[in-house]
Amino acid sequence: MQRWPLRQVAFIGLGLIGSSLARLMRERGLVERITASSRSQQTLATAQQLGIIDIGYSNPADAVRGADLVILAMPVNATEAVMAAIKPALSSSAVVTDVGSTKGNVIAAAKAVWGHVPENFVPGHPIAGSEQSGVMAGRADLFSAHKVILTPLEHTRAEAVALVTAVWQAAGADVMTMSVTQHDAVLARTSHLPHLLAFSLVDTLAQESDNLDIFRYAAGGFRDFTRIAASDPLMWHDIFLANREAVLSALDAFEAGTKRLREAITTENGDALLGVFTRARAAREHFTHMLAGTAYAKSMTQNKELRFTVEPGGTFTGRARVPGDKSISHRSIMLGSIAEGITEVSGFLEGEDALATLQAFRDMGVVIEGPNEGRVRVHGVGLNGLKAPPSTVYVGNSGTTMRLLSGLLSAQAFNSVLTGDATLAKRPMERIAKPLRLMGADIQTTGERGTPPVTITGNTKLSGIHYDLPVASAQVKSGVLLAGLWADGTTSVTEPAPTRDHTERMLRGFGYDVKTDGATASLQGGGSLKACKIDVPGDISSAAFFLVAASIAPDSDLVLEHVGMNPTRVGVINILRAMGGNIEVLNAREVGGEPVADLRVRSAQLQGIDIPEDQVPLGIDEFPALFIAAACANGVTTLTGAEELRVKESDRIQVMADGLLTLGVSALPTVDGIVITGGPISGGEVISHGDHRIAMAFAVAGLRATDTITIRDCANVATSFPDFIGLARRCGLRIRASEHDLH
Ligand code: S3P
Repeated sequence: MQRWPLRQVAFIGLGLIGSSLARLMRERGLVERITASSRSQQTLATAQQLGIIDIGYSNPADAVRGADLVILAMPVNATEAVMAAIKPALSSSAVVTDVGSTKGNVIAAAKAVWGHVPENFVPGHPIAGSEQSGVMAGRADLFSAHKVILTPLEHTRAEAVALVTAVWQAAGADVMTMSVTQHDAVLARTSHLPHLLAFSLVDTLAQESDNLDIFRYAAGGFRDFTRIAASDPLMWHDIFLANREAVLSALDAFEAGTKRLREAITTENGDALLGVFTRARAAREHFTHMLAGTAYAKSMTQNKELRFTVEPGGTFTGRARVPGDKSISHRSIMLGSIAEGITEVSGFLEGEDALATLQAFRDMGVVIEGPNEGRVRVHGVGLNGLKAPPSTVYVGNSGTTMRLLSGLLSAQAFNSVLTGDATLAKRPMERIAKPLRLMGADIQTTGERGTPPVTITGNTKLSGIHYDLPVASAQVKSGVLLAGLWADGTTSVTEPAPTRDHTERMLRGFGYDVKTDGATASLQGGGSLKACKIDVPGDISSAAFFLVAASIAPDSDLVLEHVGMNPTRVGVINILRAMGGNIEVLNAREVGGEPVADLRVRSAQLQGIDIPEDQVPLGIDEFPALFIAAACANGVTTLTGAEELRVKESDRIQVMADGLLTLGVSALPTVDGIVITGGPISGGEVISHGDHRIAMAFAVAGLRATDTITIRDCANVATSFPDFIGLARRCGLRIRASEHDLH
């Protein structure tokens, strides 16, 4: 731990950065005495009057005499001259740091003065600033929540780095270290290049003859883009000359980019234009999530927790259409991307999980328009058209994306790495890696226990296999079949119990021959997919919450429109009916190879049952909702054969049991299921553990509760049901959402 206060700190230069840090150190009592030097007598006088410094000198050597810490905060091009001036006056233990925006030239200056880089010198760069400059512009909070990059060398003393780190942390900054070269390359791209472009654009337009008009009509875009052209010209002059090499290479990359756009406009290549624009727009959003390492929804609210509050009682009535099926939405993007031609999707689920899949394919060079009110156009690149993603593919909370992509990526000519958020990082991935290895894939689960990240080395030829699934998993079945598209010969998968068959159905929709013989699905590698239209039905997994809601709330009568009724997904209807639920199937039809119907649900007194094990895979995602139905039923409901629930987005057996107990319902978790005895539901606070379906299940429980239910950690509801609150309120649930600071 750093011991404060320091005896003396010397600032060379009292511009925005230097004077801000001096203010902070003074205000926080981090130093007894602050000395400074500046080329301007006026600056020193002002700083002294404001109480920022104790004494000012025109000669830097006088300022550093006796200092424990010296902070070089003058323009970067003065570094060598200042270092030479202070060298004879520095005490041997003094730590020196700087705040320059480029680091290579600062290192070179130190070498020129000392013949080597002193071990007490810690090069640094606070990424903070404003368009204002000078001692009057300084603010003690300038660095709060900003990044400071330190670029210590191998022989830099650890104590020196620790002291500089402690100063910046005391200023509220987030301190990170990187190499000098990396720093200069990164900054050239993220800071120097944008400044260059802003200066250049304003200057170019200002020279045009009708410039007055241009500036008069310059609206938001021009103003936003050129804000940074108001920065200090002299400082930027220095920076560009100091970081010459890295800036030139960033400029080359940029010019190549504009050249491609120019060509696309000249040749009226709309696809190429859309490609760049859609990728750029999505990438901007994506980077934020990736850096935060969170599910997409979570990083929107950064340090906030989303909480649901449900007031007790109510009926559940009306007509509603739940959002598109998550499983089908994922597959529409995947198959559309590797098909030939443009696939048009409607009813696409604009939830975070499906959007993660969409982003992954954009990363692999596929042009995807939308989503726009559920409409998406995927410009397929064919089986051999995917490109290497620029970096790690981040899939947020989505297990389906990770497992299906594992199969698809194992067959590509490039390497890839798949990662996700903290929840996904705990989920088993060996179940998909194992069969893929049998096909010849080079795939590793690099997490601790067969968990993500998943690392795939491309360019291996896959061979078809027959695989007997050890667990009933549609994700594993689909991942293997997708890899089989590129494999030699036949790939076949036998499942121990029927699981959702959307992959098989959709492949057929794309004209790819998939055979199903009892429990075995098989296909031949080497064919091709033809683009088609996909109308995604409503997700029965989302409908499940509404089916349970209307069943348990008194006097309810609800119609759910256009719900997917694939026979491998209707477990929830079968189970609710077996419990006495009143569900009518209306207007049954087939849309794009998937059965669809409207469902009318009315209140019913449910009875506890032993849930038939053959229904488990057919309703695997719907158990959180069904457990609430069981809590409202007469008697005991017993679930067995459902150990898979323990490895979903949370351990759904334990988490639901904990929540039910909190609400006064008897729930006994077992190894592979749960025993729930129906009875009154009280109010209370339950925790969803970031699991969307747990959050929605407990929300619905409010209809039969005697008091308010609060549900914690609900942001991930956006992974599958973005407007759950809106739709549920319209039907009668007394629910609201609120944000809370995370402590
Ligand atoms: C899914 C399959 C199921 C399901 C998941 C979606 C799919 O997972 O729970 O929500 O789209 O293939 P498993 O394959 O792990 O059973």
